[in-house]
Amino acid sequence: MTFARACSVGDVEPAGALQVELDDTSGAPRPVAIVRDSDGTWHALGDTCSHEDYSLSEGDVEDGVIECWKHGATFDLASGDALTLPATEPVPVYAIEITGDDVLVDVDATMQ
Ligand code: FES
Repeated sequence: MTFARACSVGDVEPAGALQVELDDTSGAPRPVAIVRDSDGTWHALGDTCSHEDYSLSEGDVEDGVIECWKHGATFDLASGDALTLPATEPVPVYAIEITGDDVLVDVDATMQ
């Protein structure tokens, strides 16, 4: 596993999300949503909604779910599963670690 620094802990408030771009081992950039749930739990998901090409990190976060701002599909933060239409496919969930003030993500290690 290769963790890369995504942002600082202070960059994302509880019930918030931040879009970052991290390179995978092939050097390809991947948009990642760094999400802090309303209870403070951290998650890293693919930032592109599985319905259409819009950023999930601009959506609302609450109680383990992120809602796509464009058409309202919701995704489980832990599994990436699509919970409500119009999305039907999951988004990737990546390994995330907090080390001191750093939020670290491994975009090569999907959790599903
Ligand atoms: S683009 Fe996300 S629900 Fe349509």
